[in-house]
Amino acid sequence: MKFFVDTADVAAIAELNDLGMVDGVTTNPSLILKSGRNILEVTKEICDLVAGPVSAEVVALQADEMIAEGRKLAAIAPNIAVKVPLTWDGLKACKVLSGEGFMVNVTLCFSANQALLAAKAGATFISPFVGRLDDINLDGLDLIADIRTIYDNYDFDTQILAASIRTVNHIADCAKIGADVITAPPAVIKSMASHVLTDKGIDQFMKDWAKTGQKIL
Ligand code: E4P
Repeated sequence: MKFFVDTADVAAIAELNDLGMVDGVTTNPSLILKSGRNILEVTKEICDLVAGPVSAEVVALQADEMIAEGRKLAAIAPNIAVKVPLTWDGLKACKVLSGEGFMVNVTLCFSANQALLAAKAGATFISPFVGRLDDINLDGLDLIADIRTIYDNYDFDTQILAASIRTVNHIADCAKIGADVITAPPAVIKSMASHVLTDKGIDQFMKDWAKTGQKIL
């Protein structure tokens, strides 16, 4: 499973990238706002740092304007994936932009039928939002499983990019279901390394080691 980092924070991306944990990056207008940076400048910086796909989102709502914005974003670097919303206009933009050879990430997916349409429109990635479904007492992981079944039934190439990941359990569950990619905030990816029994074990080993009076270095 590929790990994308869901942030426009260049320092946080660099830290994970140095460890080989970054297969790509996703951004959205809210993350650009949080970064306080210019979208074109920060996206270029991220594309220079990371070899994999970097999603940059259009903000137009009409297909023609989405296509124009998508072409401008795609011109930033060859590893841009143009992110379009899952609306009828977004699907039109997806069809045109993917036909021109650009990677397209269709975002804000909340149903299996939406995912089916995105695959037929040539999406490179479909982004179902797990956490936002959980927020309204639906099961975001059920949606990932449904899309996996549908895409496998018909051999669609569109990659399932599980988004709106809030917890480490979301990541393990998405891996078990067979999502192709997860995108998660840096803090969630880093917390995958934590376990209370690891901390407890280190504490005990340190206490026992001190009693030996030995040193390794
Ligand atoms: C990424 O592509 C999505 O925009 C992001 O994962 C949404 O996450 P949120 O629901 O936590 O804002």
